[in-house]
Amino acid sequence: MSVPRTDPSAAPRTFAVDGWSPSSWRARPTLQQPEWPDVAVLAAARADLARLPPLVTSFEIESLRAQFAEAAAGQRFILQGGDCAETFDACESGSIAARLKVLLQMSLVLVQGGRRRVTRIGRFAGQYAKPRSADLETRDGVSLPAYRGDIVNGPAFDAAARAPDPRRLVRAHERAALTLNFVRSLVDGGFADLHHPEYWDLDFVRHSPLAADYQQLVDQIGDGLRFMETLVGVNVAQVHRVDFFTSHEGLVLDYEEAQTRQVPHRPGWWDLSTHFPWIGVRTSSPDGGHVEFFRGIENPVGLKVGPDTDPAALVRTVERLDPYGTPGRVVLITRYGAHAIARHLPSAIDAVRRSGRPVVWVCDPMHGNTETVVPQSGAGKGVPVKTRKFAHILAEVEQAFEIHRAAGTWLGGVHVELTGDNVTECTGGARGLSDEMLADAYRSPVDPRLNYEQALELAMLMARRMRK
Ligand code: PEP
Ligand code: CO
Repeated sequence: MSVPRTDPSAAPRTFAVDGWSPSSWRARPTLQQPEWPDVAVLAAARADLARLPPLVTSFEIESLRAQFAEAAAGQRFILQGGDCAETFDACESGSIAARLKVLLQMSLVLVQGGRRRVTRIGRFAGQYAKPRSADLETRDGVSLPAYRGDIVNGPAFDAAARAPDPRRLVRAHERAALTLNFVRSLVDGGFADLHHPEYWDLDFVRHSPLAADYQQLVDQIGDGLRFMETLVGVNVAQVHRVDFFTSHEGLVLDYEEAQTRQVPHRPGWWDLSTHFPWIGVRTSSPDGGHVEFFRGIENPVGLKVGPDTDPAALVRTVERLDPYGTPGRVVLITRYGAHAIARHLPSAIDAVRRSGRPVVWVCDPMHGNTETVVPQSGAGKGVPVKTRKFAHILAEVEQAFEIHRAAGTWLGGVHVELTGDNVTECTGGARGLSDEMLADAYRSPVDPRLNYEQALELAMLMARRMRK
């Protein structure tokens, strides 16, 4: 299918065309939405969200859009990471700072090793909703609504906690604002200054088997910066401030719609709940409500692609989201699993290439590699636990690099679930975390995350690969 030719003299185009409005998704089948019990409370929550100050601005979204265009052209690498699900309780300073640190460290390693500019995107300040395989959960003959994330209901198995409560939409906005406020102050206040990577975490450097490698990278970056500054005569921090963007799965459309606005001096509609919303694999049908909603906003849009995604449907979705062939408008986040990527990615690349859409290809090496193990000893003996093996995560990323290279496309980034804390949720890595150690510090309410040491190790191995 051909892409409409651009007419530079035409009025600025927006994506809000062909009958789109912020509520046009309501006429489509829309999966994974809670059944809010009280429409009056819902209306009040939506009115609140529509009137409160936005979480992000159109200027920032435009800047991210430009960076995605560079990633589509192979000039930039996207690092997107954070929790599978944020909880309202975990909105606290230590955990936010730790997540920021690990993302900054990883990006530093990727810049140094990969020799490409890196865009940092947190899976946070809005990652409060989870898709579920069943609407109800049954325990001992009692059925209650499934836990859909803190934006909808509570995790405790009782009727009060599990009842969807629209007031949680407003709390989610407030927690996101608190998170973002702290992240912005840390980044602006010098925490992210490239001259002082030693602020970000020394624990890793002291205790890890990879300590020497990491320290060497940090030293090289310091030397490089000093060399640049001597050469150019300015402080690099003034030239290039480290910026940071947010993202979350745009699942609960009442939340997204209420925060979608027009802004002065710029055409179109902007979802100001986050810079970069993505559509999950379960809600990615080209004819469903999610694709209808996200096709009309000006933000760049992510789309998860899995082993069950049919290439023809994928192309229809991409064409709906990107009618003009705008570079970086669509970010395809593939999550096949280490054992399936070689079977699926080449045909997806082929189909999208024929559509002529200049997408960014990102690898999510987490969601196709989840498995359940039963530890044979230790504190969690005999209890099944959801985990992911570091070797599988790495293998999926390595294959993604190779398959794109062979196809003549670029791997434009990675999307990972991680935490800055020392959890034991994924096995393997330099320290050799075993199934028996999983119960030591397993804290995720949903999917297993890389701990900060495993995350940094992944970055170092990717950087090595990118340099080759
Ligand atoms: C997620 O990113 O946490 C998620 C649910 O992913 P997917 O839609 O790819 O399953
Ligand atoms: Co997840």
